[in-house]
Amino acid sequence: MVTLRVPATSANVGPGFDAVGLALDLYNYVTITESEKFAINISGEGAQDIELGTDNIVYKAAQRVFDETGFKCKGLNIKLENHIPVARGLGSSAAALVGGVMGANILSGSQLTKQKLLEIVTDIEGHPDNVAPALFGGLVTSTILDTGDIVWRKVELDRDWKFVVAIPDFTLSTKLSREALPEQIPFTDAVYNISRVGLVVLAFQNRDLRLLGQIMEDCLHQPYRSALVPGMTEVLKKVKQQGRPVALSGAGPTVLAIADFDKEAREIGKLMADTFAEHQVNCLIQVLDPNNTGAEVI
Ligand code: HSE
Repeated sequence: MVTLRVPATSANVGPGFDAVGLALDLYNYVTITESEKFAINISGEGAQDIELGTDNIVYKAAQRVFDETGFKCKGLNIKLENHIPVARGLGSSAAALVGGVMGANILSGSQLTKQKLLEIVTDIEGHPDNVAPALFGGLVTSTILDTGDIVWRKVELDRDWKFVVAIPDFTLSTKLSREALPEQIPFTDAVYNISRVGLVVLAFQNRDLRLLGQIMEDCLHQPYRSALVPGMTEVLKKVKQQGRPVALSGAGPTVLAIADFDKEAREIGKLMADTFAEHQVNCLIQVLDPNNTGAEVI
């Protein structure tokens, strides 16, 4: 039996679409036991909605590891205690996949490296921006090379920074949110994002919240997704007017802002909640610390 604690993640971080993500101290707990009797039990977030059969993504991810290692598992008993809201842009599916592959790898005798596990979960998820920080913690920038190899680098997150998430009370599937994106974008829009994303990574590395507040905008995905998240554009605008970094978290609908102390985080949270409320959107505000370790056995 193995239990893993896997962090929530926020992908894109403004202009870093499909390339940048960071880990937060909000967790799903995945317990995997080899057992002849197949069973999946879920408590917490998504308990009513998540697939309980062999289509469950934790189960599928575990099977990919068994296929890779040749480990003859008798069967699986999976227990999930979920604290990451489902389909809100906080990496719940990445956490499930990472829990599945790490758990199965340990049951198989830890034959696969974390890099190989990253390749498996990226292949399932399609892009590494959530799964990489879920595995490694911190802020991770990654790319898939033409050879198919994944290259990534991690920046430790400042422990004193406060990550404020406004989680609307409706779900938005990544599929739907990606369907809203155009097939082509103007060259100037690509330059707009490229010119910011390097500075975003440097701002995290140099712990420069002021710089981050100036350059975390995006024009590749957020404008196209605004129709799916009422109030999002105004929330982004009002927090930016305070000089603070703010972005849609992953495919949404959660919005992430960053502050450098508790009182300010609470004020920004209230601003986000009040602005969403003007658009008839209720949201839960949480102030989270960063996670710099990634998924861990507990
Ligand atoms: N980069 C992805 C997106 C994250 O924005 O669609 C969600 O999986």
